[in-house]
Amino acid sequence: MRRISTSAIRNKKNKEKITMLTAYDYSTARILDEAGIDMLLVGDSLGMVMLGYEDTTKVTMADMIHHTKAVARGTGTAMVVADMPFLSCHLGLENTLKNAGALISEGGAHAVKIEGGATMAEQIAAVTAAGIPVVGHIGLTPQSVLNFGGFKMQGKTDESAKELIEDAKAIEQAGVFAVVVEFVPAKIGKKIAESVGIPVIGIGAGCDCDGQVLVCNDMLGTYSDFTPRFVKRFANLKPEMLSAVQDYIEEVKNGSFPSAEHVF
Ligand code: KIV
Repeated sequence: MRRISTSAIRNKKNKEKITMLTAYDYSTARILDEAGIDMLLVGDSLGMVMLGYEDTTKVTMADMIHHTKAVARGTGTAMVVADMPFLSCHLGLENTLKNAGALISEGGAHAVKIEGGATMAEQIAAVTAAGIPVVGHIGLTPQSVLNFGGFKMQGKTDESAKELIEDAKAIEQAGVFAVVVEFVPAKIGKKIAESVGIPVIGIGAGCDCDGQVLVCNDMLGTYSDFTPRFVKRFANLKPEMLSAVQDYIEEVKNGSFPSAEHVF
C-alpha cells in the first residue's frame, strides 16, 4: 500500500470521511498505521500528554522534531503531520521556513500544521510556496489559550462564527490542503465545511465535518488529567495498565516472576 498523499486527502471531501489521530511515539504510530488511519498528527498536545505541561506553550522545535522522528519511523501508509509549535511561525518568514523545513527534512513529516486564521496567511503562503504541505487549524487554537482565557468553545456569537468562516477561506486561499477546526458549535463546523473546497477535519466541531481528529491518549483512556467534553473514550486502557503493573509488582515481590519459562 502506498503512502496517503495530500491529493488523496483532498479528494476524500464529500466522498469519504478522513480519519486522523495524534501519535507521539514509534510503537503507537505502528499500531495506528496498521489499523489503517489516514493521517497521524504529531500534535504539540504532546506537551501535555507526553511531557506533563499544563498547556502547549512550552513545547519547543526540538521536542517536535524528536517526537516526529519517532512517529515517522513507525508509519508505512499514514501521512505524518507535525505541529509548528508556539512562536515557531512568528519570528519572521525565514525562521518560519527554517522550522517548517526541519520538521520535514529532520523529523520526516509529510506536512506541517499551523495554528491561526487570516493573520497567519502570509506564513502559510510562504511555507506552501517552499513545497511544504500545510494543514491549517482554527477555532480553539490551543497555543492561544492564554489569550482565550482557557480551553473555551469558539464561534458562539454570529460575529465570531463569521470571522471563523473568513479565516477558513483566507487560509484556503493561502494554500492549506486541509484545515482542523477545533471546539466550535456543530452548526458552525458544518458551515465552515460548506464554505471551503478543502477538507475540514473536526475535533469537537460536529459530525458534518469532512473528517475527525482526536488525541489518541484521550480516546484510548491513558491520559486523564483533562478530558474535553467532545472526547469519546473508545477504550479505557488506564485501569488495564494499572492492573498489569500491579500484577507485575506483586509477582516480582512474591517471586512468581520470573518463572521457569522466563529463566534461561
Ligand atoms: O496538538 C494537537 O493534538 C492538536 C489536535 C487537538 C488537533 O492540535
